[in-house]
Amino acid sequence: MLKILLLLVLFILPHATPLTSLLLPRNSKTLSFRSGLQLIYRKSLPSTLPTLKTGDLVTIKTVPNADGNFDWVGLGVYNEDSMYAVRILEHWNGRVFKELVSAEFDDKEIISKIFTARLLSSITSKSHLNLPSPSTDSYRLLNGEGSSLSGFSLDVYGPNLAVAMSSAAYVEMYKDTILECCENILGHSNVIWKNTPTRLKQDGYNILEPTSEVDLPPSSPTPERTIIQENSILYTLNPSSQKTGFYTDQRENRALISSLSSGKRVLDLCCYVGGFSLNAAKNGGAVECVGVDSSSDAIEGARENAVLNDVTNCEFVQSSIEGYMKKAIENGEEYDIVILDPPKLAPTLKGLDRASRKYHALNRDALKLIDRKNGGLLLTCTCSSAMSTKDGGEFFLRMIQRASLSAGREVKLCGRSYSSWCHVTGLLEGGSNYLTAALIEVEGE
Ligand SMILES: C[S@@+](CC[C@H](N)C(=O)[O-])C[C@H]1O[C@@H](n2cnc3c(N)ncnc32)[C@H](O)[C@@H]1O
Repeated sequence: MLKILLLLVLFILPHATPLTSLLLPRNSKTLSFRSGLQLIYRKSLPSTLPTLKTGDLVTIKTVPNADGNFDWVGLGVYNEDSMYAVRILEHWNGRVFKELVSAEFDDKEIISKIFTARLLSSITSKSHLNLPSPSTDSYRLLNGEGSSLSGFSLDVYGPNLAVAMSSAAYVEMYKDTILECCENILGHSNVIWKNTPTRLKQDGYNILEPTSEVDLPPSSPTPERTIIQENSILYTLNPSSQKTGFYTDQRENRALISSLSSGKRVLDLCCYVGGFSLNAAKNGGAVECVGVDSSSDAIEGARENAVLNDVTNCEFVQSSIEGYMKKAIENGEEYDIVILDPPKLAPTLKGLDRASRKYHALNRDALKLIDRKNGGLLLTCTCSSAMSTKDGGEFFLRMIQRASLSAGREVKLCGRSYSSWCHVTGLLEGGSNYLTAALIEVEGE
């Protein structure tokens, strides 16, 4: 009788089945996956594979040696359309790997255990960076491959709000489970889900419109606006606006500008909601700031933020920076510090040459606006991974050098900085250092 009951439990009731295993050859490439690389291209997989579909979880191990022993590589998610055939989500030495392969869990349970472990460890890691702190409550908690969760990022905005950003098919497929983990761990009542349709399309997952969907308990009001804090500056955040709503990746660069701004005239090109200007004016003691952005929502937000911080010496102008700079040069305007933070102009390496001409023109004009007699500083940024990483970053510097020749200004590099410290990058993944900010000393004539 007991046997029959057991058979019933095993075969009639739904239960977890063992995961399919992928066997990789014993070579240096496999060793690099074992050592932490997360993205397995199709060419690294054996030519014949078990039947798998997108979203299936797989274990990955080496082919057995002559003694029949194998090495674990990790646990990942398969995709039949993406160039990333497998994204490893948990390596053999990860926190929950042993547990995951020692018992049978269903796919959702596995995703839940991995995301829960990663959220908890990231919260601890960010506490080492003093995040959150009394002066900053908004930061990136999870950062795709940097946080060993390929295709998923999460920004924390104060105690009540987080914005998740999905860019992989599996993340969309396990969305409910992932949201549940985020809400359980963060205790946030509001987690907003966003995605990047172009990257999802590359992953074989079609979403026509970007999602800015709010997942809330039914009784909660939609968080249209919330107030966040970074570097002791307050911002009203509209989470359904650009990207995750706020560029948390410029926090240290904004602080750098505030440390240089005392008594200075500052021009903040592509100011968005005023981050650099407000750091310069409120924390840094700049005498005057002008912020320029083409987005009316951004400019409205920047003006609101100035009021919120009792800042009265910042002017925010809605204009293309190209048009603004042309007029400012004609009018002989001059600044001590210019910040140039354009959007991603080179989304791919293929578009880099064309984008480079655009970067050149913007940098040339920005340099022309630095005080002619005394010189000043240009903080010039690129958030295009192709530009940031080409030739180890030298390509970006060469572009600035050429722009300085066109502008007729002598320049020197003070230093380079990158995305905020909370935007961690995997040491082996390469190329994820998408943001570079070069601080340029511009000599007087
Ligand atoms: C990378 S974000 C800037 C982030 C900002 N510096 C900050 O600290 O939050 C780029 C901004 O450029 C603006 N933008 C894009 N093209 C522009 C153009 N041609 N002229 C002016 N602003 C532009 C976008 O609206 C966006 O706010």
